[in-house]
Amino acid sequence: MPFVLESSKRGFYPGDRPKINDRDYRMDESLFRSFQGMIEGMYGTPVDSYHDVLHITRGLVLTTPLIGHRENRGVEIDKTVVFWSMVLHDVGSNGQDSPDHGQVGAALIAPFVRVSPFFTPQQAEQIIANVQWHNKPFRQIPIEIHTPEFAIFTNADALELVRMEDGRNITLTQRYAWGFTHIAQELFEKTKNAPKGREFDTVMSVACEMGLVIA
Ligand SMILES: [Fe+2]
Ligand SMILES: [Fe+2]
Repeated sequence: MPFVLESSKRGFYPGDRPKINDRDYRMDESLFRSFQGMIEGMYGTPVDSYHDVLHITRGLVLTTPLIGHRENRGVEIDKTVVFWSMVLHDVGSNGQDSPDHGQVGAALIAPFVRVSPFFTPQQAEQIIANVQWHNKPFRQIPIEIHTPEFAIFTNADALELVRMEDGRNITLTQRYAWGFTHIAQELFEKTKNAPKGREFDTVMSVACEMGLVIA
């Protein structure tokens, strides 16, 4: 799968990929399970087949090694914002992306996220903004949106573009995401034929098998 790095981020490109032991960054399966009902409820009957339970669940799993990678380098990450942005980000998808599904999704979630006891007002606004901007061209995104949480969530979403299987160039906007392309590909290959209704469980058991999640 042809991954490329956003041109302004290339630096030493095409230098070595970072050496990453993704098994250092595992999180407990129970953490992911807490999102299962929400994910299946929102994406269980998808309008289009690319924004389904498999995409969201794999995306959620892929955020965790990226979070671990940043945290190990001293970057503070608000995991609540990352996870909820991933879980909610494609709720506005509609098959043809007109109107824009980031915009639609943000409008849909805003009333709920703003009154939810799970989030501080700041976290709520960050999640809404992340959903709104997740599908916009990198250079059009305002500087204040480019938080470490936005970078992790959108790069996990980009890694998940392997599911299109159409040979497209997949643009990653962070060099560190480069180290996780093989994981994204393997997770996709091993879960793409998950039986209907067992999508979440299949991703969990494969992720545990791959060492990405602690059972
Ligand atoms: Fe999207
Ligand atoms: Fe997505």
